[in-house]
Amino acid sequence: MHKVVISGSGLFTPPHAVSNEELVATFNAFVQAHNRQHQAQIEAGSMTALAESSAEFIEKASGIKQRFLMNKDGVLDPARMTPHLPERGNDELSIQAEMAVAAAREALANAGKTAADIDMVIVACSNMQRPYPAVSIEVQQALGIDGYAFDMNVACSSATFGIQTAVNAIAAGQARAVLMVNPEICSAHLNFRDRDSHFIFGDACTAVVLERAETATSAERYEILGCKLATVFSNNIRNNFGFLNRCDEQGIGRPDKLFVQQGRKVFKEVCPMVGEHIAGHLDSLGIKPDAVSRFWLHQANLAMNQLISRRVLGREAAEGEAPVILDRYANTSSAGSIIAFHLHSRDLKAGDVGVISSFGAGYSVGSVALRKL
Ligand code: COA
Repeated sequence: MHKVVISGSGLFTPPHAVSNEELVATFNAFVQAHNRQHQAQIEAGSMTALAESSAEFIEKASGIKQRFLMNKDGVLDPARMTPHLPERGNDELSIQAEMAVAAAREALANAGKTAADIDMVIVACSNMQRPYPAVSIEVQQALGIDGYAFDMNVACSSATFGIQTAVNAIAAGQARAVLMVNPEICSAHLNFRDRDSHFIFGDACTAVVLERAETATSAERYEILGCKLATVFSNNIRNNFGFLNRCDEQGIGRPDKLFVQQGRKVFKEVCPMVGEHIAGHLDSLGIKPDAVSRFWLHQANLAMNQLISRRVLGREAAEGEAPVILDRYANTSSAGSIIAFHLHSRDLKAGDVGVISSFGAGYSVGSVALRKL
């Protein structure tokens, strides 16, 4: 079995930053127009008035201050509140592949690899823009990679599940090196008219190159010490969008065809699950939690990450021990923990241990223990 390392990572950040204040101004304009339009029913008691959102609540409840989006105008237009991403022709590079190629090029450059070194491409994310041909095969072609590619979806945990899949392929000798990419356009599955969740997500794409330890030459190399994955079914984060929708016209366009969650339940159920998962994983590897220099956690909610760190460490995480990127990026689904890794790993010393952990819909949780070489 070959030892496997992460030898490079890359990040594509969309061009448009949107603050909580901007998002709330649009949401509240929508609420005011809705309540004006239905004033008679609201006064008659047959309809409940919609409540406004607040930037203070968003930052206090989630830690999010802004997010990056692929399109801003469509989202901030109170009459639309959906990103405007025009369809492209079949002969043009699709938008998800474009994001993926940008992040992948940086990951390849950081790994000191070219397309000729890669045997397998995985696109792992929460939403694919089409069922087929696989976005990963389009990325493979755009980068000129031989071998094979496939898409996979484990919602917010897609990256750690993708890493485990890549590790297996490399360890077994199926691939010399793997490119694993997470193009997330979360703004397209987010209901910007839902007060409980309109602020949660942002867009981004991350990529990592994994390869055999003996071929890795980059300055930043992280040996994979172990991966651990788990899933437990839950309806508390759900999206009913799918190819069967057209078979029941009544359901088309309903809010359940977008992201829906019971946020408080998710918080309560997922934190202990992830805390135990990471602690159990470290224990199985003979690593004491205090010997871990860095936790690159999924970026959904600041209080959630603080609680998970407390459960694993038995104390508050020190400054920089569990880096936060959700303040700027919001929840970028599978990309979140990899953004934290990409932006907050270079200062580690050889021998330092870190854990990437993602968690979310399914429920699903994944952890990847690394040692810097
Ligand atoms: N603006 C102002 N007030 C709001 C609001 C908004 N946008 N949204 C909700 N509120 C109000 C609610 O009406 C409620 O008021 P009440 O106490 O008078 O009833 C209060 O704020 C608390 O609402 P609640 O939904 O319980 O908030 P919360 O503290 O649980 O925070 C989340 C909401 C979504 C930020 C939080 O639950 C969370 O992040 N959960 C985990 C989500 C997660 O990780 N999901 C994974 C996705 S991959």
